[in-house]
Amino acid sequence: MTCYRNSVKCMLLLFFMGLAALNTYSYWRDSLNVNILNTSMHPDVTVEQSSITPFQCPFEPWNQVHSDIVPNENLHLEWIQNNISRRDNILESQIRLLSSSVYLDHISITTNSQRSYGQKVYCRYYNCLREEISNSSYQSIFFPMNVIRCPRRIGVKYMSISFDSEEIPQEPIPLVYRVFEAPIHEVSVCVGPIYGSESKWLEVAEFIEHYKLIRVRYFYFTVFNMNEYSRKIIDEYLRTGEIELTVIQSEYKTIDWQFHLLQINECHQRSKHHSKWVINVDIDERLVILDDEIKSVGSLLSSYNDTVAEVGFAIRRIQKTEKLPEKYESDEQIFFEMEFLKYNVSSPITWGAYKTIYRPVKVP
Ligand SMILES: *[C@@H]1O[C@H](CO)[C@@H](O)[C@H](O)[C@H]1NC(C)=O
Ligand SMILES: *[C@@H]1O[C@H](CO)[C@@H](O)[C@H](O)[C@H]1NC(C)=O
Ligand SMILES: *[C@@H]1O[C@H](CO)[C@@H](O)[C@H](O)[C@H]1NC(C)=O
Ligand SMILES: *[C@@H]1O[C@H](CO)[C@@H](O)[C@H](O)[C@H]1NC(C)=O
Ligand SMILES: *[C@@H]1O[C@H](CO)[C@@H](O)[C@H](O)[C@H]1NC(C)=O
Repeated sequence: MTCYRNSVKCMLLLFFMGLAALNTYSYWRDSLNVNILNTSMHPDVTVEQSSITPFQCPFEPWNQVHSDIVPNENLHLEWIQNNISRRDNILESQIRLLSSSVYLDHISITTNSQRSYGQKVYCRYYNCLREEISNSSYQSIFFPMNVIRCPRRIGVKYMSISFDSEEIPQEPIPLVYRVFEAPIHEVSVCVGPIYGSESKWLEVAEFIEHYKLIRVRYFYFTVFNMNEYSRKIIDEYLRTGEIELTVIQSEYKTIDWQFHLLQINECHQRSKHHSKWVINVDIDERLVILDDEIKSVGSLLSSYNDTVAEVGFAIRRIQKTEKLPEKYESDEQIFFEMEFLKYNVSSPITWGAYKTIYRPVKVP
């Protein structure tokens, strides 16, 4: 045999054979056990059935909803007619699907482009096998900017869009589960888009740990690009489940402030019915509670009743004069380089370009 030279292949083969034998054995043993335990059961019948019945998508109670309308659709049409929301194109971008969320009464899809504002578009629905659900498409409209809202369909797991009902849609994307009766996070942060050549690892850690000190427990990140070293810290926070991440693949040479609008809309869709309050800030912005009595943002916000949708905060700018550190060197370096400790030249407190904490569910 050529086993000597191909020993790895032989071992692999043996391994698979071993597995198959093991499976057969345990299956036989299980059915035997069932027979012994309860002779009224007929495991042999089950075996025959499972070998011929095609896989069925599971029945999930939350996914048995069909709706015919999109909430607030008429209001959105009225706003489109009144030119509310921006309609400028970002650098002639191509449309790609970013993410899709399912709520109790609708589904939303966000794209990486805002050029389609007010255009008609078809929602396309797919089951767990990524097969299109027949007779399910719905004509909707882009509003605001890069968001499309769709009614619900039973058993949907993936969504796509097309510009007419015959066109072959883009590859569908999975639904993000947001069918919560009540939000599962109290206060979260929608972090402004991360891009550029500066190494962000320390800034990301300082940012997250700062907000955790004031009892923020969840973060929605959006990354256009970041170096591999900085990406490690993002992956660590993903591992602990404290953040979620939207990556926007971008073909653009430059990324400018307009990309914040994409991120704000996408984060709004993610946080809706997921977080009660959202702090909208960039990675270099810190919310500071000046009253020592107040220990958490949540307790600050809990004094507001349900009619309050947004709370504004005055700002103070701090001058940053050096680049963030490339790589970790020592603990002393960390204390020296944390931007919140390092810089202290600041502007007076102003209400120009003030920051907000808002309740995502209040945006119609
Ligand atoms: C056997 O099946 C009967 C009827 O289905 C059931 O009442 C009984 O609890 C089962 N016994 C065992 C040991 O599973
Ligand atoms: C909206 O904008 C379009 C094109 O810029 C313009 O023709 C129209 O009059 C505007 N409508 C309103 C209500 O301002
Ligand atoms: C397709 O759906 C529409 C509306 O939901 C319904 O009126 C129509 O009968 C359906 N057609 C088929 C072939 O199922
Ligand atoms: C809710 O809070 C707002 C702002 O603090 C206040 O103006 C309003 O009267 C309150 N409404 C109720 C029903 O308490
Ligand atoms: C501000 O920072 C400089 C340099 O880091 C330091 O020398 C100075 O004492 C600081 N001032 C205050 C008021 O903290």
